[in-house]
Amino acid sequence: MAYERNADLMKDFIETYRAQMGQVEGIPLPESTCEIWDQIHNFQAREDDILIATYPKAGTTWVQEIVDLMLLEGDVKKSMRAPCFVKVPFIEFNPKPMKSGVAYANTMESPRLLKTHLPIQLMPPSFWDKNVKVVYLARNAKDCMVSYFYFQRINKALPDPGTWDEYFSKFLAGDVPWGSWFDHVIGWWKAKYNHEILYMFYEDLIEDPIREYRKLLKFLGKELSDEVLEKIRHHTSFQAMKENPMTNYSALPAAVLDQSISPFMRKGKVGDWKNHFLVAQNIVFDEEYKKRMAGSGLSFRTQL
Ligand code: A3P
Repeated sequence: MAYERNADLMKDFIETYRAQMGQVEGIPLPESTCEIWDQIHNFQAREDDILIATYPKAGTTWVQEIVDLMLLEGDVKKSMRAPCFVKVPFIEFNPKPMKSGVAYANTMESPRLLKTHLPIQLMPPSFWDKNVKVVYLARNAKDCMVSYFYFQRINKALPDPGTWDEYFSKFLAGDVPWGSWFDHVIGWWKAKYNHEILYMFYEDLIEDPIREYRKLLKFLGKELSDEVLEKIRHHTSFQAMKENPMTNYSALPAAVLDQSISPFMRKGKVGDWKNHFLVAQNIVFDEEYKKRMAGSGLSFRTQL
């Protein structure tokens, strides 16, 4: 009986467990990240690192997979050497009791592909000292918001998002992990004038992947044949990545990422926000967007 009761309590704990959030310079981040902030800030980048930087849900895993395959000259077998979250350390992640992203990256051989969601002002300075190449992928806020809502529902390492209505307000206020979408996309946009940053858009990648691959190749200083590019396009299509156990996050247990609620590879579309935004929310959003983006020189497409 006692065992069954304990098992029930454990089941309840696992089902309701949610990681706590803290803050660094006013940006909401997982508490476990805040606890090792000194280590993250002092992270030692290397000259030949390549960093994938995104606001959460902008298509990080997608561009990671594309760049990895480019570095491997299209060798699909090698690209499947490990799950995406193992082969590309997430530098500010500290998934206790597992190794932190920093500790893991430190043990990795060069050249390393790294991932971050940090806003520009929180970036470890060594990335700039070492002139590291950064691929920044941005996605329109409406689709990001919807994708993030579902992701926060399934991810126990993030707070429960509440109802869609509640989440809508929180997202607009920047009261979500990694902070404001507006500040993030604008901060990185401005930084591209001073650093080695290729600023890309999710919507462009959906529209014409091969055109976008060519920009990436130029930035990375690589050349690949049309045949290899086509292979990369095939292997990184939404459907292929949804079926690939190395990219669909099925390697994580449901106690961490509960994909029975919503799959990680959910829709992969531009414009899914139309299935979630109420007419009134869309008006509120568009007004806020206009104010926040004014003068930024940055524009997004919310449909193709
Ligand atoms: P949706 O939730 O809108 O489907 P991240 O990797 O930054 O967490 O982003 C995840 C989002 O990118 C999800 O969006 C996911 O479906 C989408 N995505 C991942 N791989 C993709 C691909 N190959 N093509 C299009 N979208 C993809």
